[in-house]
Amino acid sequence: MATLWHGRFEGDSNEALQALNDSLPFDRRMFQDDIAGSRAHVRMLARVGLMTEDDATAVLEALDATEAEMTDGSFTFQASDEDLHTAVERRVTELAGDAGARLHTGRSRNDQVATDLRLWTLRELTDLSALVTSFQDTLASRADDAGEAYLPGYTHLQQAQPVLLAHHLLAHGWALSRDVDRLLDARDRADVSPLGAGALAGSSLPLDPDGVAADLGFAARFENSLDAVSDRDFVAEALFALALLGVHLSRIGEELVLWSTDEFGFVDLDDAFSTGSSMLPQKKNPDIAELARGKAGRLVGHLTGLLTSLKGLPLAYNKDLQEDKEPLFDACDTIRLTLLALNGMVSTLVFQTDRMAEAADSPYAAATDLAEHLVAAGMPFRDAHAVVGALVRAALVGEGSLADLVAADERLGPEAADLLDPGTAVRRRTTPGGAGPGPVAVQRGRFSEQLAAQRTRL
Ligand code: ARG
Repeated sequence: MATLWHGRFEGDSNEALQALNDSLPFDRRMFQDDIAGSRAHVRMLARVGLMTEDDATAVLEALDATEAEMTDGSFTFQASDEDLHTAVERRVTELAGDAGARLHTGRSRNDQVATDLRLWTLRELTDLSALVTSFQDTLASRADDAGEAYLPGYTHLQQAQPVLLAHHLLAHGWALSRDVDRLLDARDRADVSPLGAGALAGSSLPLDPDGVAADLGFAARFENSLDAVSDRDFVAEALFALALLGVHLSRIGEELVLWSTDEFGFVDLDDAFSTGSSMLPQKKNPDIAELARGKAGRLVGHLTGLLTSLKGLPLAYNKDLQEDKEPLFDACDTIRLTLLALNGMVSTLVFQTDRMAEAADSPYAAATDLAEHLVAAGMPFRDAHAVVGALVRAALVGEGSLADLVAADERLGPEAADLLDPGTAVRRRTTPGGAGPGPVAVQRGRFSEQLAAQRTRL
């Protein structure tokens, strides 16, 4: 069988070796990047005199034809195409003859694959950052629609203090902003061309790695050929940024699961973004939210899997590095689908703001305000906490409603009972970054500025 390396071998490869060794089933999706890298390499070979203009033209035409075949699906892969690089080079050689046989001059699949994967990653991180940004747009517009609607804020999943719904939605929005920053930071570090490193040590030929890097639009070329072919930090960083993004989406998913239960009743999901039960006719299930929660496990798995593959690898290229692509591809695909589905789910769901307000208007939610009322009158907070705690306890053991107990308490004074009025507690959250209407209006402005800054960076 005609591999790229059969020269020093006698006879064919074992089938099991081929099945384990071949990366074509998954690396073929990088074909545009592989061909872009080859174009830049050929143009460089012609510039430095390692290929004639005629040969370069023939190879560039063959690369165009190969790309067209791979794009429209007419490309015929062969059993001997162990990876994408082999398939492209074989086809170019079929089309361009001897000129094609010069394509791999001064190049190894080691610098080639690192180049392909970096190009692929740069584009994908940009696309995914744009998708995260659209989801943030949805959260921002739902926050705008929410006006002054409020719901209980929770700690330990126990009702704590009321917060504006807008504030709650924007909390997720800010976490996603940090995700976009991380994805784009990872993109910046991936933006280095490894092409020209050869198998590991550079070349005796007068290659021009700087010219190739510029031609491919990379910000820089490698500084060290060994590092260039063995560095997969950019994959690990992308996987970390995607895993943390997945963890953030899982937290949103979990809330939607809870909020759509009869017990909470805070949201009604749109039919198009919910599923039914095969047995229970009344059911409407939040599968998207559950999958957003569940997919995080697989994303964390991809990160730990890659780090484990990289651990202890000696310089420079080792075939273990072929294990970089499947986790990265799957992580990107997973995040893409999850973002699209969750975005649709959040854009179309209906917030049950009456139900939220009813849950938030428990008089106990104003307990902190009662204590702060005493503090404003000069009482040390610890004492105020004890006074209000005793009133809450008295109400809980049936000595009267909290409102009556508060009204009757001399230390609190007559106006304290007003603090228990529905909607009052949330309006009293006035400090910067806080959950009430004043600071949330400021926050909305800042969030729009953040989204604009993200778009500039994209
Ligand atoms: N398919 C290989 C990979 O994904 C390409 C590099 C192969 N290099 C080699 N020396 N066998 O890593």
